[in-house]
Amino acid sequence: MDLDLKPLESYIYRELKIDLSAYKSNQMNRRLNNLIARNGASTTKEYIEMLEKKPEMKKKLADFITINVSEFFRNKELFVDLENKLKEILISNDNKKLKIWSAACSNGAEPYSVAIILDKLSPKVRHEILATDIDSTILETAKQGIYNPADVKNVDKDILKRHFSIYDDGKYILNEDIRNRVRFKKHDLILDDYEKSFDLILCRNVVIYFTQEAKDKIYSKFSESLLPGGLLFVGATESIYDYKKYDFGKASTFIYQKNK
Ligand SMILES: C[S@@+](CC[C@H](N)C(=O)[O-])C[C@H]1O[C@@H](n2cnc3c(N)ncnc32)[C@H](O)[C@@H]1O
Repeated sequence: MDLDLKPLESYIYRELKIDLSAYKSNQMNRRLNNLIARNGASTTKEYIEMLEKKPEMKKKLADFITINVSEFFRNKELFVDLENKLKEILISNDNKKLKIWSAACSNGAEPYSVAIILDKLSPKVRHEILATDIDSTILETAKQGIYNPADVKNVDKDILKRHFSIYDDGKYILNEDIRNRVRFKKHDLILDDYEKSFDLILCRNVVIYFTQEAKDKIYSKFSESLLPGGLLFVGATESIYDYKKYDFGKASTFIYQKNK
């Protein structure tokens, strides 16, 4: 099936405020075609009519586009690397407060992982951690800090013990102390302005869905948002080959440093 998706794209922009033109079109078209077929519609128009009748389908569509998968210390070895770079480059003896941004943070496991690392590295300092996502529903989940065992499988036992409690149903709840260190806010990497003066930006496992043009704009804006010497931490499949173009140097395989 290869449907004309233009009406659906306009609908998604209007109703869900998501600009699909920034997402890789082959991949997105294939996924949307599959989704429409799975819902039993044979035309885009028919699918839109279904969406109009059932609000819960609209929510499912938003979830489908945004793909919210995350976990604590995703690619654990890269978080070890991040911890080392934080020690080496950003954490100083004068207890400087860092400004950090976890962009496309999903259920909060990523910014909370950073908060846990910083609690270990500089327990006396309250660093500023901003965490954003385009999906306001996932941000509400993130604020609650409740996770399945699979989400915390990379968390060391002593950290689990120190920062989480276990519910009777086997879920893990992150303690308030760490939860209070992260400020969540809705933000669209494609359409919104970026805050400035960050020491560290994490942006992982989202740009893979974007076109080269969209990625290019995002990396330029990250570079403008970082302080000189600040770090950008990307996903395990998201090496930036032309990093010099964005005024970055390489701090390690998946961490880039804004030139001083
Ligand atoms: C796969 S998750 C990545 C979560 C986390 N960064 C990680 O690596 O585990 C991708 C997230 O990107 C968000 N997202 C998708 N498009 C976005 C956009 N245009 N602006 C901001 N966030 C977006 C989704 O809502 C989703 O929560």
